[in-house]
Amino acid sequence: PRVLHVATEMAPLSKVGGLGDVVGSLPKALRSLGIDVRVLTPAWPGVLDALRRRGAPLRRVREKIHVALRWQVFSSRLWKSEIDDIPLYLLDNEELFSDFHIYPESLTADTALPFALLSMAALELPRRESWRAQILHSHDWPTALLPVALRWHRHYRDVSDAYESVLTIHNLAHQGILSPSVLDEWGLDRRSFTLEGLEYYGQINVLKGALLSAGAVTTVSPSYAWEIQTEQGGMGLHGVLAANRDRLSGILNGLDLDTWDPSNDATLPSPFSADDLSGKRICRLRLLESLGWEDDERPLVCFIGRIVEQKGIDLLLPSLETLLESGSRLVIVGSGFSLFEKALQERASRLPGLAVHIGFSEERARLLYAGSDMLLMPSLFEPCGLSQLIALRYGTVPIVRATGGLADTVIDADGAPDGYGFLFSDYNPDELIAVFRRALRAYGDRTRWSGIQRRGMGRDFSWKASAQAYERLYRRLLALD
Ligand code: GLC
Repeated sequence: PRVLHVATEMAPLSKVGGLGDVVGSLPKALRSLGIDVRVLTPAWPGVLDALRRRGAPLRRVREKIHVALRWQVFSSRLWKSEIDDIPLYLLDNEELFSDFHIYPESLTADTALPFALLSMAALELPRRESWRAQILHSHDWPTALLPVALRWHRHYRDVSDAYESVLTIHNLAHQGILSPSVLDEWGLDRRSFTLEGLEYYGQINVLKGALLSAGAVTTVSPSYAWEIQTEQGGMGLHGVLAANRDRLSGILNGLDLDTWDPSNDATLPSPFSADDLSGKRICRLRLLESLGWEDDERPLVCFIGRIVEQKGIDLLLPSLETLLESGSRLVIVGSGFSLFEKALQERASRLPGLAVHIGFSEERARLLYAGSDMLLMPSLFEPCGLSQLIALRYGTVPIVRATGGLADTVIDADGAPDGYGFLFSDYNPDELIAVFRRALRAYGDRTRWSGIQRRGMGRDFSWKASAQAYERLYRRLLALD
């Protein structure tokens, strides 16, 4: 199969969240299965330079890509490059891709324009390139217009037979809800403004339209796939999702094992592996030193993620005192919602044993994964989650809420002999504190603890099985089997 992934971010070139990591690593795994996969993504500021710095080939396609939006034609340069043997198309439009804001604070027809451009450029690509995808694979609402346009766009309806489409939901919280005026502006048929189309409480909902028009819809874990069919987890779309469940499947994200490998991570003061954990102790000491903390018996717990509601910050805040009193130290790193950031910083200023770093540095994150004893991830919801997978690989035991991908990837050490983490279910501080106490008890028994660490490090969270699941999906859509 020939597959074009169309996405707003791709690690390591551009990234705001886990979606970028997936688009940076899934294509490689697909390629190793022999799938002809390419990626189309914006040339956000800095992206072309980053490719040049890596010594990647960079060639400009002579003719520009033209997309009609808002009764005008937007012309963009198209660059071709390659990263890890994956052919890349970079859409270069200085006017619309000048600011790397994937989730604009307020979504309007203006701020949505870059995403409309990217989606439709995918359909213009074959006019400039001899290569033509059979499957167009979109990620989240910003490129969800792609399957919608195949069904409802005046210009593209006639090419729609040439493609199959897949939409992957990384996060249902963002849906692309806009005023119905964009239908005309984007050239979509007004007949799409119905319950069976894009209409959503008088507005248009791009993601909903894509759920109804894509050939297949996937999300990033099996548990999240069913959670979003319930009223609690469906963010208003559970009805549509449940009615279309035969086209919906959950495929767990994998981890890029080359990028995340404690035995070969140049940023760490010492490498380590499941067979020899002594290097992890050196990482722990370096981490403590960087925090200005003494080395003692207390476990070091980290939280690494966006400081937003999804990640369970409003559960963490009222629990902090008790967590620290129970005998551990906690480091929180990330950025997000400023009220949460301030509340955490205020606590850190008066609670010894709590450090809060607003902002994100990959190097610091790596030292945290390597040097911590436990990772806390009390998410309200979590489509898949990457931090717990990285933590496991780095011998850092995850304490997580049993939701979405967290429930699918962590087995409780108190619940099963082969367990390697700690889970809680109810979203309340008492439960969080109780699971924390269970983890501390296990930590107190060093032999048991190192067994828990090693079992986690031994789990296979590579992309292999998931890439095969995507391959089966592609082949089914193309009726190849
Ligand atoms: C989003 C989700 C996260 C998932 C990631 C990649 O960031 O919040 O759970 O791991 O997308 O699919």
